[in-house]
Amino acid sequence: MKEPKEYTEIALEKQAKLLDMSSYLENGIYVFDTDFRMAFKTTRPNHPMINTLNMPKKEKQFITEIKHSETKYFNGSILWFCINGDIKIFSDDKVLTICSDKESYQRKIENYAYFSPFFRIPTLSKQDTKHNMLVEEFINFDEKTADDEPFIFKRMYNNYRDYFTYLTRLTKIGYQTLNQLWEISSHTVYSPQFEKITKKIAPELFSMKFPFINLHGDMWSDNILLSHEQNGKTLWYIDWETADNYVFFYDFFKFIWNELDVHQDASFYKKYIAGEFDNELRHLFSIFDINFQPKLKQSYFCYFFLNAIINDTGRIAFKFKQEEIENFERKVFPLMT
Ligand SMILES: Nc1ncnc2c1ncn2[C@@H]1O[C@H](COP(=O)(O)OP(=O)(O)O)[C@@H](O)[C@H]1O
Ligand SMILES: [Mg+2]
Repeated sequence: MKEPKEYTEIALEKQAKLLDMSSYLENGIYVFDTDFRMAFKTTRPNHPMINTLNMPKKEKQFITEIKHSETKYFNGSILWFCINGDIKIFSDDKVLTICSDKESYQRKIENYAYFSPFFRIPTLSKQDTKHNMLVEEFINFDEKTADDEPFIFKRMYNNYRDYFTYLTRLTKIGYQTLNQLWEISSHTVYSPQFEKITKKIAPELFSMKFPFINLHGDMWSDNILLSHEQNGKTLWYIDWETADNYVFFYDFFKFIWNELDVHQDASFYKKYIAGEFDNELRHLFSIFDINFQPKLKQSYFCYFFLNAIINDTGRIAFKFKQEEIENFERKVFPLMT
């Protein structure tokens, strides 16, 4: 049977990239997942990253052999194509990142240095400036279950509380209003496309000053790893690619939104609206001397989303946000009053 052209093109492109990485991968037969996010050595035993993949039926699998007789610089057996063009290669205990460019490499180093005092990030064990490559420790993570939720939330809450407290004590925080953000954003020319979301935000929030601080920007369950170490459960934060200045409550709502949007899990949003996180939020807001107002819960959530839309550091063009805007209206509006 003839496959559509597009499939073949993608397959060949990914295969070429895989072969390019031969000196970092063990020899053997590699297979791709359905979406070409990853290739892994077929003899690789069960692994948490592989277990969650969509795999084509055996006879439809796209297979490539790595046969390479020269020096190997890394003993990887899983290759992951990151969304931003970086490549990650996994061995049993290390992760090699080959950055797509110098900027991505530098950002990783900077984020690691900046955030690791507050958030546990896999240790960077090697930095190769010449080749824009990094090695970090591989976290032998476990699948998260509903039982882990209280631990994860408590740990995240403590980490953010400590980070916020540090910022208020030892740094100068930049305050901004939504109106100011609106003024400087180049994305507001598309405002009719997200007018309905803008309208859901209480007018008084537009002129209220909020801290805009360096945050993760893509905080959700896929970017936190849970491992069981000798001294108990440990939480690791990964994927700091989108770290940037956002409104101080951004990461919290990004988490709720991604669970809803990507994992189709509205439970966090519903818990938030039901007031289950009110105490924690009140505390986090109070660190910046801001009064958390439960009656503005929907507004805060839409504020976060508007911040995501009009953030225009140039890394994500507006056209990539359109689909997310539609999803937001389709998935969150029915849950709103
Ligand atoms: N240090 C690590 N230890 C274990 N697994 C990791 C590590 N870093 C990344 N991963 C795995 O690789 C996946 C992709 O990495 P990530 O940095 O989140 O890339 P992407 O930008 O494609 O989401 C993660 O969801 C996680 O499963
Ligand atoms: Mg990720």
